[in-house]
Amino acid sequence: MIPNTMKAMVLTGHGDVDKLEYQDVSVPAPGPGEVLVQVTATAKNNTDRKAREGLYPTKKGEMTSFQMGGKPTLVFPRIQGADIAGRVVAVGDGVDESRIGERGLLDFNIYANDRRDINLTPDYFGHGADGGYAEYVALPSDQFHHIPNAELADAEVASMGMCSYQTAMHMLTSANISAGERVLVTGASGGVGTALIQLCRIMGAIPYALSKQDKASALLELGAEAVLDRSDMDSFVDRVKAETGGKPIDAVMDLVGGEMTDVFIDIMIFDMNARSTYPRLSIAGASGGNISEILWTRIYLYQVQIFGVSHGTREEAEQLMAWIRGGQLKPVLHGAFKLSDLHRAETYFVNRGSNYLGKIVIVPDSQWEEHGQPWSLESAR
Ligand SMILES: NC(=O)c1ccc[n+]([C@@H]2O[C@H](COP(=O)([O-])OP(=O)(O)OC[C@H]3O[C@@H](n4cnc5c(N)ncnc54)[C@H](OP(=O)(O)O)[C@@H]3O)[C@@H](O)[C@H]2O)c1
Repeated sequence: MIPNTMKAMVLTGHGDVDKLEYQDVSVPAPGPGEVLVQVTATAKNNTDRKAREGLYPTKKGEMTSFQMGGKPTLVFPRIQGADIAGRVVAVGDGVDESRIGERGLLDFNIYANDRRDINLTPDYFGHGADGGYAEYVALPSDQFHHIPNAELADAEVASMGMCSYQTAMHMLTSANISAGERVLVTGASGGVGTALIQLCRIMGAIPYALSKQDKASALLELGAEAVLDRSDMDSFVDRVKAETGGKPIDAVMDLVGGEMTDVFIDIMIFDMNARSTYPRLSIAGASGGNISEILWTRIYLYQVQIFGVSHGTREEAEQLMAWIRGGQLKPVLHGAFKLSDLHRAETYFVNRGSNYLGKIVIVPDSQWEEHGQPWSLESAR
């Protein structure tokens, strides 16, 4: 029996966590072509905080969020949460009732059209439409992908959400990464970084992780060829050479930016004769800062190809879902918080310390015992 109201964490405006209010709101009705999903776990992403704080600034420095289609799509009140796992409990017109009961994972994009190969105005559930920080959510049926795998718990399914995995895949496909290439992954322990390491291995590329020493063994286990410590960037080129046998890195997948980006170019261009392809830099994040100083001459003289990446395409999401179903991708789940405790989860996420790898998931209180308790971070500070 589907109730009329539900618990949700509602974002009421730009600002601190106090803008997130735990409220009773109406359960949405699935429209034509939609499914109503009972949420069991939603993975947290950086973008929740950035959108809340209005950290996608315009050139004038206005507090805002995505407006690729020409106008801002984040309006208040809004329920955030992009990477949603759950069960179909009702269907809208045109959707087969056989889908009721199906466990699935959302392709989080709000696509502007039906194109499968390009996504020019990336927007997403939890931003331009309500997302998963609630007990129920209405979603396009063709973007809620069936993940039947009994070996995966719902929290683990959510941890493989497309915000990280599709972005990682699009970083690699944009840079045309091929088998045998050496790829540096920055921010390697995060959601996108852990996805990149796994995807490099699926594609036959060799991922080198930039991270911190306490996470090295977990990253090696995940598939990293070697882990380079980011707390000491002196003589980085020499340290890379020591790991690659003197060969340059073919491409860098950069999630960090800031002061480090210029050094990332060094490790690709120190021996152009040893290369057989152009140096490539895919950029999808700015965890280390929004401004980087790069010498223009080095970009054009060394023919460094730079790709800006935001989200990805329907085709890529479908390929990733197939890899999840096929067991090629592994969940990297750090832990779970209750939906009512989202303020604390946000603080924990920002201040996270050592040994943190992968994703946090948020589980509705009504689903906690089954889907959250086994990974509980409820006592964490
Ligand atoms: N373009 C898109 O569509 C898209 C999609 C998803 C995410 N993003 C962005 O991509 C970035 C990574 O996302 P994520 O979800 O993977 O984030 P995450 O889970 O928070 O991981 C970020 C990682 O970056 C590293 N890091 C953090 N602060 C750093 C600093 N000051 N200097 C160097 N490294 C630092 C840390 O890894 P180590 O300790 O291992 O170095 C951290 O675990 C974020 O900026 C996010 O907003 C963009």
